Amino acid sequence: MKRGGTATERLAADEPGIARAAALLRAGRLVAFPTETVYGLGADARDQTAVRGIFAAKNRPAFNPLIVHVGTLEEAAALARFPPGALRLARAFWPGPLTLVLPRAAGSALAPAVTAGLPSVALRVPEHPLARRLLKRFSGPLAAPSANPSGRISPTRAEHVLAGLGGRIAAVLDGGPCAVGIESTIIGFDPVPALLRPGGLPAEAVERCLGRTLAAVPKDHAGTPTAPGQLASHYAPGAALRLNATDRRPGELLLGFGAMECDLNLSPGGDLAEAAARLFDALRRLDEQAGGRGGRIAVAPIPDRGLGRGINDRLRRAAAPRR
Ligand code: TXA
Ligand code: MG
Repeated sequence: MKRGGTATERLAADEPGIARAAALLRAGRLVAFPTETVYGLGADARDQTAVRGIFAAKNRPAFNPLIVHVGTLEEAAALARFPPGALRLARAFWPGPLTLVLPRAAGSALAPAVTAGLPSVALRVPEHPLARRLLKRFSGPLAAPSANPSGRISPTRAEHVLAGLGGRIAAVLDGGPCAVGIESTIIGFDPVPALLRPGGLPAEAVERCLGRTLAAVPKDHAGTPTAPGQLASHYAPGAALRLNATDRRPGELLLGFGAMECDLNLSPGGDLAEAAARLFDALRRLDEQAGGRGGRIAVAPIPDRGLGRGINDRLRRAAAPRR
């Protein structure tokens, strides 16, 4: 795809594709790649210019830090200090849809822009086979936020990446649709384990592993979460969203869940994993069908447990008034 004169290469999920992606990343270029949650927009996390390029391509505010992706727990341990609970979670759930926010190790090689000046760093070991092969071939940490323009819906297919960032990034490694479909669950430890973002790993599983309940994200006096990046409006489609809809009003398209009549169903059988995997693509499709701005989408209630917490978080933010 071309925009602004630079073509974005679409790389196949094979050895030459991975080699090309790694070579571009080594040269300081931006390459989107699939993870099991959503596509990430990768850059060498040690290269300040490359990392700044991520913020520019996404139009992301500089105060919003990035997740650093590594291939192994050992590589992660070189970048941050792991309290016992974090080590336990990493051993139980990495590789997988879990991000840990930890105190940054002194003298780590990370570019300052990655952490937006914070003393902490967000780390994740992804499970997607292509992400793993790319990390191995690149052999270094990759900073990678979701590969979408800031504030828009996260991409779960290479076509979504190209639609949002085509012409602004060097390449996208095409791994087909993402299996989990919503972003990783983020856990912080400052000072007690806290759920900074519900996501692709059910918070209940994290709590069982830690043997304690997770604290919620602290909110300021206006009710806004104080963790960076937890802006109310996010994942915004053009159309307006009405949540917990039990009927379809005139002029609305209905996004369903469970056995019901609707325009598009996240999971007719009421399966939350299936619903998460389909969520962002479904929002994109309905948004297009509704005609974007001015259009209206109603969304059926989703149970607020397990992956449903992550789904409802994304839906609430997609429905929030625009920044
Ligand atoms: O599944 C995912 O997590 C995907 C894939 C690509 O790994 N990535 C992703 O990145 O969702 P992004 O940038 O869209 O969301 C990362 C979130 C942001 O809300 C950011 O504020 C938060 O992680 N974050 C990053 N570093 C942090 C830190 N040091 N402290 C608190 N929050 C942090
Ligand atoms: Mg994002």
